[in-house]
Amino acid sequence: MSFIASSAPLLFFDSGIGGLSVLKAVQAALPNAPIVFAADCAGLPYGTKTEAEISVRLPALLGRLVERYQPRLVTIACNTACTIALTHVRAALDVPVVGTVPAIKPAAEATQSGVIGLLGTAATVRQSYVDKLYADHAPDMTLLRHAAPELVSAAEAKIRGEPVDPAVYVRAMAGLIDQPDGARLDVVVLGCTHFPLIEDELRAAAPHVKFVDGGAGIARRVRHLTKDQTWPVDPEEATFVTTGPVAKLNALLPALSGFGLTRIGSL
Ligand code: DGL
Repeated sequence: MSFIASSAPLLFFDSGIGGLSVLKAVQAALPNAPIVFAADCAGLPYGTKTEAEISVRLPALLGRLVERYQPRLVTIACNTACTIALTHVRAALDVPVVGTVPAIKPAAEATQSGVIGLLGTAATVRQSYVDKLYADHAPDMTLLRHAAPELVSAAEAKIRGEPVDPAVYVRAMAGLIDQPDGARLDVVVLGCTHFPLIEDELRAAAPHVKFVDGGAGIARRVRHLTKDQTWPVDPEEATFVTTGPVAKLNALLPALSGFGLTRIGSL
């Protein structure tokens, strides 16, 4: 393995700020890791895009990011991007890439009733990648899927400190519970990285349900892949870059600084 400088960052990528839910888990596991978080705010939301659009957009953007920041590892903190384009991205980059895909395996382990739900974007819930996760990890169970694009905007609004109508969360949970077998639903996969940011609100809408997401598993994977590497004793400020206008980030700055993301720029 080639030498990796202790200053080499971990690069996180999402369409917006949803990936902060993954960053949080990784920062808890690797507190001294230098961080660059890239948000494709100009491309948000991914959930309403076509497979072709995402497959073209992702490798190009990540190629530029890797060239600029020379990360030791890339985490694509976006289920939509990964269920569509993880293979293309891995083929295009020569650094390790950790993906985020719906946590169907942990959900299958946690359910008592055998009925699990998946909340994701419209693009994620229709992917054959999800069919494969279901076939591999929960073949004898019932998987209910519901696309909840409203929750992406709700999470973005919450992080900007804006009020969100709680009916949004009730509607999203009803999208699962009102399906046949939905009354037996006991575990829901938060299959979009924006959704753990609004887990408390979703729990208030459906208190009997357990929610699972991929954050902890990704943190374990990143720690494992970097286990022989060194980290700075005193890392520099973490960087947040956007593909959109930096001025549009003003309302996000307090939340970003909570993650140490105080160096703000554009891609
Ligand atoms: N955070 C993203 C995900 O995990 C998608 C949000 C969007 O851009 O629609 O799927």
